[in-house]
Amino acid sequence: MAAILPAGCHKHAVGTALRGGAPTLVEMTGPRSLRAHAAAHHLLVGCAVAPEHLDGEPQYAKTVADQASIVVPENSMKWAALRPTPDRFDFRGADDVVVFALTHDQKIRGHNLCWHEALPAWFEAAVNRDNASRVLTEHIRIVAGRYAGKIHSWDVVNEAVDPKSGRPDGLRQSPWLELIGPEYIELAFRAAREADPAALLTYNDYAIELDTPEQIEKRGQVMMLVRRLRARGVPINAVGVQSHLSAGETPGAGLQHFVRELRAIGLQVFITEMDVNDRSVTGDVADRDAAVAHIYRDYLTMMLAEPNVTAALTWGITDRYTWLNLPKYARADGKPQRPLPFDADYNPTPAFFAERDAIDSRRVATSAVPSDSYAPFRPGAGPRIEEE
Ligand code: G3I
Repeated sequence: MAAILPAGCHKHAVGTALRGGAPTLVEMTGPRSLRAHAAAHHLLVGCAVAPEHLDGEPQYAKTVADQASIVVPENSMKWAALRPTPDRFDFRGADDVVVFALTHDQKIRGHNLCWHEALPAWFEAAVNRDNASRVLTEHIRIVAGRYAGKIHSWDVVNEAVDPKSGRPDGLRQSPWLELIGPEYIELAFRAAREADPAALLTYNDYAIELDTPEQIEKRGQVMMLVRRLRARGVPINAVGVQSHLSAGETPGAGLQHFVRELRAIGLQVFITEMDVNDRSVTGDVADRDAAVAHIYRDYLTMMLAEPNVTAALTWGITDRYTWLNLPKYARADGKPQRPLPFDADYNPTPAFFAERDAIDSRRVATSAVPSDSYAPFRPGAGPRIEEE
């Protein structure tokens, strides 16, 4: 392969890509990387990562380092990973991600401080109505406190809205709701602000992207939640739109209105977990990749046109490790899914080029883009995200 590389091009700086059916060599690092293109458009771009691959697989680590200006641990900051027993924390995986990111000049999203899933096995027996508020706030104090000053944004509360729970406030029936009541959300945000005065505090959710009746309803309930929090002076700076999309489903204008409404009340928006499921697409790899790339292009072009959308992350960097290949999400034909910008062999997929093109299409005035670091209000200081 080295013999046909462009002059001056290190072999790691190129990959093969199928365009029009024929493999071609393409440059995709340095100035051709996602992170370089994003930097030129006031955007952070990145992916979820797993410490075991950062440490154990050089090509994985190199791809993340080359492409991402922001990373988020896919699982290693969740309760189940950090809390082997009620009294002991295991920060090894989370620390590895933080050290990697700092070494490679990357920002870090924290995921997550409060979720109804990925709770440790001991949780059910050990946490009750009497101690739940204390357990939650202590967890946040210790975890967010450990990384204070190093985190770009925390997913403080994850997936707290679920219309199917049938409650007028839209909140999900979750252990936290049952043990503490609806105020657990406010409690978590306030504890996070106290533990880390610098991080952008985020509410993160899924199935709010499309204009289907179910997703319109859920998006409305997320907006109501955010407005309730703002009205009570709760420190929330951003909403994470997870963006687990499927080929063939086109997000529409409803999401754009949602993003603009959030901008009007001073909130940023992060695309936190993008991938495109190709379960419904038949045909060969080229057909499937084209359908996936189509969603990347349309969705990101729409979202990145909004100045308060300041970060876009995919849920993984390589198809080799996508959660969509867990058995319960597998394709009927048994073929592995291809939802990410790099395939299982680290070749860029058409989604990579679609993502890069969409980044290049971003035209936002510098003055309209909120800062990527949170600073409490000081009279006379420049543009800011306001906390009431
Ligand atoms: O590490 C063990 C492995 O030792 C074991 O052999 C294997 C057997 O199933 O399980 C492995 O752990 C799995 C882990 O992913 C790592 O692959 C867990 O069973 C599995 O439950 C876990 O799933 C994660 C899921 O969140 C639940 O925490 C997915 O990786 C992760 O991608 C997914 O991420 C969520 C976001 O946090 C929130 N938004 C939705 C998103 C996708 O579901």
